[in-house]
Order: sequence, then C-alpha cells, then structure tokens
Amino acid sequence: MSTFIVPRETYHGLGSLENLKAIEGKKAVIVTGSGSMKKYGFLDKTINLLKEAGMESAVFEGVEADPSVETVMRGVAFFNREKPDIIIGLGGCSAIDAAKAMWVFYEYPEATFEEIIKPFSVKPLRNKARFVAIPSTSGTGTEATCASIITDTGKGIKYPIVSYEICPDIAIVDGDLAKSMPKNVTADTGMDALSHDVEAFVAALASPYSDAMALDSIRSIFVNLPRAFEDGNNLEVRQAMHDASCMGGVAFSNALLGIVHSIAHQIGGMFSIPHGRANAILMPNVIRFNSRDTDKYRLLAQALGKETAEDFAGEIERLRQRVGIEGSFKAYGIDPTAWKEKLDAMVQNAMDDPCTGTNPRKPTLEEMKKIFEACFDGKIVKF
Ligand SMILES: [Fe+2]
Repeated sequence: MSTFIVPRETYHGLGSLENLKAIEGKKAVIVTGSGSMKKYGFLDKTINLLKEAGMESAVFEGVEADPSVETVMRGVAFFNREKPDIIIGLGGCSAIDAAKAMWVFYEYPEATFEEIIKPFSVKPLRNKARFVAIPSTSGTGTEATCASIITDTGKGIKYPIVSYEICPDIAIVDGDLAKSMPKNVTADTGMDALSHDVEAFVAALASPYSDAMALDSIRSIFVNLPRAFEDGNNLEVRQAMHDASCMGGVAFSNALLGIVHSIAHQIGGMFSIPHGRANAILMPNVIRFNSRDTDKYRLLAQALGKETAEDFAGEIERLRQRVGIEGSFKAYGIDPTAWKEKLDAMVQNAMDDPCTGTNPRKPTLEEMKKIFEACFDGKIVKF
C-alpha cells in the first residue's frame, strides 16, 4: 500500500500568477531572494494581486542560495512579528525551501532543528498558516515536494527536511517568472529537474503514478531544455520547462531519489558546485553503476528512440554538453589536494545520506568512492 502526495491546488500556465487574486486570507508574508523577483516586477505584481484579494502583505527579502539555519531563524522572528495566515515562497528554490522551514518553526516555536530533520517528524501544520509556492526556476520542483534543503554553514552539510506536512497547499507554476533566469541557471536547474525524473524512475519506491510524471517530464526536458538555454525569452518553452520541473518534483517527492543526490549533497556542501551541475556530471556514471540491478533505463532510452542504458547515459552527456556543462568536477577548479583531503568524509556522508536508501543498487563504500573519483576526473566508471 502506498500514498501519492501532491499540492491540493496547482495552477499552471502563462499568467497563472493571477490566481493569487482568489486566495483567501488576511495577512501574507512573502519570502523571497536577493532581488530578481523585485527587478523583474514579480514582487510588486504579487503584492498587488494579494491586495486585490483583500490581503495585507509583508516581505522577508534576501534569502541566499543554499539558505542557512540562521536565515530560517531570522525569518521565523519576522513571522512572529507579522503573524501571517498565508506564507508565500516566491523565487528560486532557496526562497521556497527557506519559507517551508520557517513555516515549521512558526507553527512549532518549541521545535528544534535537530528534531525536524528526522524524516517525517514534522507535526501537523496549518494551524497558523497555509503555504503558497511560486517558483521562478525550473529545477527543484520544490513547489510540489515534501522536501526542503537547509544548509548548516558551520558544518558544511546540507540537511534535507522531509515531511508530507511541508508539501505546499497551492503551487503556482507560471513560466513567465522563469524568464528571469540567466543561461547558466537555466542549464543547471534544468539538469537538476532531469536528475529528479531519472532517479525517481528507477528508485525503490517508484510507482506507476511517479513513473508517468517522470517519463513525460524527461521527454519534455530533452526537447525543451536546449531551446530554453538558447532562447530564454521563448515563454512557451519556459512554461514547458516549468511544468516538467514541477512534474519531476511530484515524481521524486513520492518515489524519492538515489545516489546522484547522495553524492551531489556532499560535493555541493563542501565545494559550492551548483546542485544541478553536480547532478549533470554524476548522472551518466550512476546510470552505468545502477544498470546492473535495474533494466528501467532501457525504457528511458526507448523514449528517446534509443535502446540501452549506455545509450541513455550517452544522451545525457550530449544534453549536458549542449547546455554548456563540463563533464568533470576538476573542470570547475576544485583543488585536487582539497578534494583528496575531504574525499573519505564525503564518501561516508554519501553512504549515510537518506537518498542512498532508495537507490536501485546498494553501493559498497569502495564502489561509492570509485564513482566520486571517476566523476572528479571525467572518466567512465567500470565495475
Ligand atoms: Fe535535486
């Protein structure tokens, strides 16, 4: 017996931001990042639409990439002053993820960070506020997921908060907001979305429901990511990528992920490589490793007119090159000495990462290390 969790309402399509006018509430707090939503006019538009809905709003700005525990706590203090009954995460995944964590502590001031990072430990929310997610990047699908990633900057570790409770009540998937993404962000986030689909499709908890979402999203990304990369002003293509990202979010939120993410969480925390870029480098070798224990990659190859798992890994490499992402970690200037020093700790943390539990093939410590090393050098992994 399994469950399949999605946001209660998902509005999608160009102009769907207008649906804010119909939201019921008294006071909204909008949590956003460091400026692109303001610069492109979407923050003002959101405030005005809420006004039309008869709602006051206050803005918590400046959530950084990879939001920290400290930022979350500052947000909670802001919530406690403003007392919202609607929380809106507006912008990239960082703003939405931070807003989700703030929401938990706003509802449960006595909770500790250590408690809420235990999977499925968040108590029932919605006693104080409902949650609206409005993404501006087409990558994490956080508008539709039961997950949030918060960084402990002191320890250099990314903590996933996972709970059905933090799945947003309302997701607004309006591709117009995605035109604010520069080229490199389009590439990195698009490859992140693809990695969600691919990992969810072969994960231990995959179901016909998550497979359908993942497969359709993969087909769309192979067509639309290069187009979005080449012409960011094509709003139809932006919408297609926004939809694909949201569907990938639904897929992985229910089926969970695998060791691409276990490894990327460590490298991202230690060396500040953008998450989706790390996934793009890791995916082909993880497919080669996993393909001994699952034949589902063949279905993905067939969806692209190819045959084998190796064909599919090759298609990902070609897509990665088309969107300007290199094939190794060393190409991004990671110092080999620092890498060697941190390697054993990263390998162990990747083994302990919750995503490893749903990977279709269980790696040994040595196999995990081999994948890290091959991807650092940009070599094909052989087992
Ligand atoms: Fe991801």
